[in-house]
Amino acid sequence: MSAKIISGVETAKAIREELKVEVTELKDKHGIVPGLVTILVGEDPASQSYVTAKNKTAHALGIYSEQKTLPADTTEADLLALVDQYNNDPKINGILVQLPLPKHINEAKVLYAINPDKDVDGFHPVNVGKMVLGEQCFLPCTPHGILELLSRSGVQTSGAEVVVLGRSNIVGKPIANLMLQKRAAGNATITLCHTRTKNTEEHTKRADIIIAAVGVPKLVTADMVKDGVVIIDVGVNRIGMSESGKAILAGDVDFEAVKEKASYITPVPGGVGPMTITMLMKNTVQAAKQAAGLV
Ligand code: GUN
Repeated sequence: MSAKIISGVETAKAIREELKVEVTELKDKHGIVPGLVTILVGEDPASQSYVTAKNKTAHALGIYSEQKTLPADTTEADLLALVDQYNNDPKINGILVQLPLPKHINEAKVLYAINPDKDVDGFHPVNVGKMVLGEQCFLPCTPHGILELLSRSGVQTSGAEVVVLGRSNIVGKPIANLMLQKRAAGNATITLCHTRTKNTEEHTKRADIIIAAVGVPKLVTADMVKDGVVIIDVGVNRIGMSESGKAILAGDVDFEAVKEKASYITPVPGGVGPMTITMLMKNTVQAAKQAAGLV
């Protein structure tokens, strides 16, 4: 059996078309243009390409966007002052501070300084708390994108054994939490494996769905999964450089071998990545509607 490919590119395109209509309507009926600012500190090439992609997508959807790039030696105080400036800027509905930040800046302090109503990343403790309680809030973009990929592909999650690999605040912890809730793409039984898990293979071998978010290229091999497994690969690992100078990417899953056993699988690139950016746009439109009292 060869797996069906879950295309993030196609799913993201469909959601972006829906968003384009919504943005046009907001402008025509209410005179509202949703606004997003991305703040990048330093020159990490991966982060640079992520924020550029976020701004390009915003522009394509008719969302106003600003891209702020600060030098790597920016002080924590200066970054906090900039966040505060955007907290008070009515043109801006969503503030995204690209992670990771340089070591001398306290990441939590900066994320906590963002107004929760403009926290389109869903990283502020107010939004994290509401997410855990199953209340209306900004969901973090990558887990939100994974839920959309699963439900729009018709994958059955209710009662499924889901194994999440990785316990990051951005992906592992929130996706584990969301999929155990009574919701679309939820109602699953969750096991979360991490670096201290004794026998990860024992868990992955009985999983109906594996969500890999560890940042280790091709960690999940064909002998670690059962026939018919559904694979969501969140890993974006740079494993080399092509002759034309483009990064060669690999996921956390050995795609070529595992796709022969899986029923569904996301590719890297073109799987979860495009969904993360799209859900950021969805959250920004949501933030604009909330700010205008339309929802
Ligand atoms: N770095 C890696 N993923 C993300 C994300 O979703 N949001 C932000 N702000 N930084 C990231």
